[in-house]
Formats: sequence, structure tokens, C-alpha cells
Amino acid sequence: MSKENTQNLFQEIISHCKEYGFIFPSSEIYDGLSAVYDYGPYGIELKNNIQQYWWKSMVQLHENIVGIDAAIFMHPKTWKASGHVDAFNDPLIDNKDSKKRYRADVLIEEAMQKQEAKIEKEVEKAQKRFGDTFDKEMFLKTNPNVLRVREKVDATEARFKAALEANDLAEIKQIIVDLEIVCPVSGTRNWTDVRQFNLMFATEMGSLAEDSNTIYLRPETAQGIFVNFLNVMNTSRQRIPFGIAQVGKAFRNEIVARQFIFRTREFEQMEMQFFVRPGEQKKWYEYWKEARLKWHRTLGFKETELKYKDHLKTAHYADAAVDIEFEFPFGFKEMEGIHSRTNYDLTQHQNMSGKKLQYFDPELNESYIPYVVETSVGLNRTFLALMCSGYKNEKLEDGSERVVLALPAFLAPVKIGVFPLVKKDGLPEKAREIFDVLKFDHQCFYDEKDSIGKRYRRQDALGTPFCITVDHDTLVDNMVTIRDRDTMLQERISIEKLKEVVNAKVDWRRR
Ligand code: GAP
Repeated sequence: MSKENTQNLFQEIISHCKEYGFIFPSSEIYDGLSAVYDYGPYGIELKNNIQQYWWKSMVQLHENIVGIDAAIFMHPKTWKASGHVDAFNDPLIDNKDSKKRYRADVLIEEAMQKQEAKIEKEVEKAQKRFGDTFDKEMFLKTNPNVLRVREKVDATEARFKAALEANDLAEIKQIIVDLEIVCPVSGTRNWTDVRQFNLMFATEMGSLAEDSNTIYLRPETAQGIFVNFLNVMNTSRQRIPFGIAQVGKAFRNEIVARQFIFRTREFEQMEMQFFVRPGEQKKWYEYWKEARLKWHRTLGFKETELKYKDHLKTAHYADAAVDIEFEFPFGFKEMEGIHSRTNYDLTQHQNMSGKKLQYFDPELNESYIPYVVETSVGLNRTFLALMCSGYKNEKLEDGSERVVLALPAFLAPVKIGVFPLVKKDGLPEKAREIFDVLKFDHQCFYDEKDSIGKRYRRQDALGTPFCITVDHDTLVDNMVTIRDRDTMLQERISIEKLKEVVNAKVDWRRR
């Protein structure tokens, strides 16, 4: 798909989210607030379903993972200890002509992606030229154009990595200059120097009797887990290795907040910290890396829509880090991070608080500060990935079109639409009877307005996997028509069998 087409597709998805009550701009009647969004009636259902599925997969299915819900406000020393006050920065750069601000690292990454896209174009062209005889591997190894671009990308990547590691802001600017990156708004290369910008939102708390009453909105939920390590260990009878999971809001004053809900200033994370013996972190890092990719596959994403990407520069707390990326319409981007966080956080909190944050290992007969492997997935980004993957504008055989949201049935905001064929002859009463039974198990939607075709289309656009229609025969034979969202096939089944048929398809255990 061309860049213009993917941009159009993304705009369509954003409009769809608003039109069908998934996502609204925050405080829209006041013209919205930049990079902040509200979830509407169907958005909250989908978001809750993703969150619950994550919770079941991580906590309910793992005896050795327990959950918590820590407060958003935390003692300010938390953020000093964790390193966020001093090191939770993004490198920013301004264009002097447009006065627009950018993340310097993102500008460079996007420039490198453009180079990579050139390689893909060469491959596509050659594929067309050579047809079935095309050997992609050989082509990538030997084609002079590809090799030239590859060499350039690799050299830039190595330079960029070194600059990030050395925190060399002058070199980061020089890379932007050398790559001849222009501001998308002004089209000029008139850049300021690169500066560091701390992403934490600060606010005041009246009751703190300390020198400073500045507190922060948490930029990650993870620290709520670390500061509760002792409490959880002492109350949950867990032995290492064990994990603590949490879902909650996090806040970052993102410099560049674009791409709808992909990067927002208020968002939700689903995080799990897995505490392990020192020396075993590599093994558990590999374990969770694989387990989390498998989890994303259960959401129905295509094999090609997901990939790993190793970090060029690990965060200040990590000794290894990888992202699971999803192919959004604007390219492959991070959806989840898996980090081997060493014993950095617990050590820092032990030093700052003076409390021993250690585990006595009965098998080794020794105490130590555990190492931690973290899995951290964005709830909103998973939501967006599902919308992007599921949204389809289909041309039907009869020439008409329909928009369908092919969400996995177990996550769909509404599971069943229940319709009387007409609004008379006792059909609404019968349909309501069925609705009143099904609603105890599933989110259902009763609808008697408009033609049956329009009602089907509306549920297709919401991602509802089943619609049930009650007609005159139902009153005689106790059968209804059940329509499948994806195949649009209709089948007559007895009302008694409804529950069984629907449950079979929407059951999360079948993933
Ligand atoms: N505790 C580790 C941590 O916070 P991260 O890679 O900075 O790591 C983890 O964030 C996940 O949180 C990301 O993979 C992404 O899905 C989500 N996330 C981070 N910043 C976000 C933002 N501004 N808007 C939406 N989601 C975000």
C-alpha cells in the first residue's frame, strides 16, 4: 500500500473510532486537549476486555504471579531513587523556522526507516521482474543498490547507537544535519541544538512537610510494584521466581504526541515485574520474550504484523531490552517492552529508604536482592493495534460495501446483537426475552430500529461477532437466525442452542 493510502486508511480508522463511540478527543466541546483521549461506550468495553484478558493470562493462569493496584501518587523519593528525576529524558530539537519541536531520536529513526523502505521497493520491483524465479535472499546479498543503502543504514545505526550510549547530544544533532533531515512543516534544516527534556509531570501536594512539596504523576506503573516488593512477598507466600502484575495509568509529557492514541500524555500500562535469582535473569528474559510474543499472537494478529526489535540503547535501569512491534499504518512501532532490569530498582530503593529489600532463598540459604525481568505492554497501543488489524472496508459480491471490524470474538465490545425482524406481532417481546437471558453472560445489544440490513451493518462496524434475528417462525418453532460477522452466513438454530454456540466462539480459553 502506498504511503498516501496508508495515511488515508489511518484517518478512516480514527474517524471510525469517533463515529462508532470508541474514542473521542478529550474535552472536545472546548476543542480538545492535545494528545489526550476519552473512551466511549464501545471503547471502554474493548479496553476492559483487553485488560481482563491480560490479567487472566498473567495472574489467573500463573500461580506465581499476583496482582496489586498501587496509587498513582508516590513519595517523591521514589522517582529520585528510580533515576527518573535525573535520567527520564528525551532528546528534543526545534526547527527555528516553523518553531515546531521534535524528538531528535525519532527524526533519525524515521530517516533510517525511509532508507529501509528503499530496500523494500527494490525487492518489490525485482519480484515483479523475475516472478517465480526470484530469490529474495540472494537479491538482498548481491544487488548493488540494496548493498549501498544497507551500508548507509548500518553506518548510521552504529553512529546513532554510539551517540545515544555516550549521551552525546552534539553528535545526535550532527547526524540530523548529515542525514539532511528537513522539518516536515517548514521544509528547512534550520535546527537548534539538541537538549534533554524530562518527561515527568510535576504537581504540588499540600500536606508534604518536606523542603519541597513537588510530587510527580507516575511515568510508569512499575515503581508501585518495586516499593511494594516486601509487602507482597510477606503476604502472598510467594517464593522466587515470582511476579507482581499491575494495570494502571501512567503520564508522560511527550514532546511529540502524534498518531492518535499511539503516543499520548496519559495512558495505561499492563506491567509485570518477575523477580528472579541473580544470574538467572537471562533465562527468564528469553522466557518472557517468547511468552509475550505468543500472547500477542493469540489476539489474532497476522504473523507478519508482529516482530521483535532489540533496543539500540537500553534504559538506565536495564541490561537487555527488546520491543515487540506491531505494524501500524505508520510503520512498525513498539507495543510492548521486555526489559531485564537487573537489581537496579530494588537496590536504589533499598539505598534511598534504608529498608532491606531482600529475599532469603531457603534453597541457597542466602539473602539477596532479586533481579527483575519486566514485561510492559501499553493497553492503548494494543487497542489501537486491534483496531488497525481488524478494520476492513470490504467490497461484497453484490457490488455493495461494508465496513467490518474483525476483532477477535472474545474481545469484541458487544458479543451479540439481538433483533426482532419487525417491530410488531410479538417479535420485540420474544427478542427481549432472549436478550434478557443472554445479557447475564455477554454484553448484548438490542436493536429494533431501521431495516435488518442496516442493523447488521452497524454491528459489523462495531465488531459484533453474532447477530440473532427473531422472525415470525420463531414464535412457532423456537428457532432464530444467527448471522456470523465474518462470513455473513446465516443459520437457523434453536434458542436452547444459542448459548452453547455463542460461548464456543467467544470463550477466551480457546485462544
Ligand atoms: N516500565 C517500563 C516502561 O514503562 P516503556 O517502554 O517506556 O517501558 C512500556 O513503556 C509500554 O508503555 C510501551 O511499549 C507502550 O506500549 C506504552 N507507552 C509508553 N509510552 C506511551 C505513551 N506516551 N502513550 C501510549 N503508550 C505508551
